[in-house]
Amino acid sequence: MEYRRQMPEKFHIITYGCQMNKCDSEVLASTLTEHGYVYTSDLQDADIVLLNTCSVRDTAERKVLGKLGRLKHLKHERPDMIVGVCGCMAQSWGQQLVDDFPHVDIVMGTRRLAELPRLIRMCRELGRAVVDISETPSETNVANTMRESSVSAWVTIMHGCNNFCSYCIVPYVRGRERSRSSSDILREVKSLAEAGYKEITLLGQNVNSYGIGTDESLDFADLLAMIDRNSNGIERVRFTTSHPKDVSSRLIDAVADLSKVCDNFHLPAQAGSDNILSRMNRGYTRQYYIDLVHELKERIPRISITTDLIVGFPGETEEDFQDTLDLVRQVEFDVAFCFRYSPRRDTPAASMDDQLPEDVKMSRLHELLRIQDEISMAKNEALVGTRQMVLVEGLNPRYESQITGRTSANKIVFFPGDVELIGQLIPVVITGAGNWSLRGEQCESEEIRMEHTASLS
Ligand code: SAH
Ligand code: SF4
Ligand code: F3S
Repeated sequence: MEYRRQMPEKFHIITYGCQMNKCDSEVLASTLTEHGYVYTSDLQDADIVLLNTCSVRDTAERKVLGKLGRLKHLKHERPDMIVGVCGCMAQSWGQQLVDDFPHVDIVMGTRRLAELPRLIRMCRELGRAVVDISETPSETNVANTMRESSVSAWVTIMHGCNNFCSYCIVPYVRGRERSRSSSDILREVKSLAEAGYKEITLLGQNVNSYGIGTDESLDFADLLAMIDRNSNGIERVRFTTSHPKDVSSRLIDAVADLSKVCDNFHLPAQAGSDNILSRMNRGYTRQYYIDLVHELKERIPRISITTDLIVGFPGETEEDFQDTLDLVRQVEFDVAFCFRYSPRRDTPAASMDDQLPEDVKMSRLHELLRIQDEISMAKNEALVGTRQMVLVEGLNPRYESQITGRTSANKIVFFPGDVELIGQLIPVVITGAGNWSLRGEQCESEEIRMEHTASLS
């Protein structure tokens, strides 16, 4: 064991939850690397194992609890190994994780990323578990050098959430909104461009409120324009998530007019009934949402609209649920991520009367999925025969003779091609469609230009 300690210690990170967590894991990996630790893709070989966790639904927490249970055996074989839990569940559970799982050595909250090397040293020196879930932001300024992809990069532009949707734990575990300065963001974008990245995705729980509460008089539409202008080499800019209540006309204009900003809006609707939307504290009505989608489609005809929906919210009647189905049919989302309502600790909805039984939630979920699947399929089939520019991101994990990438509308496309095309924007004609992806073949770029001109005229 002494021998092992003198070698650079190896770390492994397992990530659950949203893009924000994926981005945080990359930042943690970069921070540890900067401090002399070495990444290993092999859990069995790691001296430090980190679980970057999610609390958004019960199923997300249960995955982590299962993994922690299994890690007990590894820790038994290798008592020197450090097991660390970070992310949203660490923030929410705190000391309880150590009480329930005595083999957990570090619990680190969502605002303490920069503290990880110190916590590891402390844990080694004290020989006992350390818990740091302080709410004082200690966000790292380490350049993010350990990214998973070499083509597409996450850039966090704001932390936290102020919206307090009544079902959601995120504001409790991520704290209040804090926007990064535009100069920090631009610096990161420029270094990504220099490193050869082709696409960036700007991240925040509600990117539309970017800039609020900062010294800069800058909103999200301004930030998009600044990035579009100052990112030579970056071909595509995406962002997520947009809260419908905060989508301004200026933002719609920015998406329509800025050449790098992609034709996709992730616009979580959550429900289609005014009664439920109000009890969810979403701050908009069904009609407002429909009008907004209408405006988006009018202004940006090629736009794809994706969404999140929750079924089985407390008090949701059959009629409320039919309103959600009706919204889905009316809007025709390209993709909808559909969830069963899951009561979360500390949230108002968890203590509302009329919690629905699981079997009702489940059957509503199945019905919603069935309807949405048909819509997704029809939307994808409508693209067969069209030509699209695809940014190639990697190999098809199933067939190595195929490569995969995404269209501007964020549709995944698989097509025959060479590994050397990774990182390039390639014209592709769509030849087949499934619910979640498209198939295609490379074509001539001239044909695409002609088609775009035709659709604009
Ligand atoms: N900030 C983003 C997403 C946050 S969580 C937004 O506002 O859209 C991602 C999705 O998880 C949410 O959009 C919601 O659909 C779902 N979700 C959040 N809390 C949930 C809960 N308690 N039960 C079920 N789904 C939930
Ligand atoms: Fe949760 Fe609502 Fe904030 Fe999204 S906007 S993170 S759903 S509270
Ligand atoms: Fe989950 Fe936290 Fe993201 S609760 S969805 S990992 S912000």
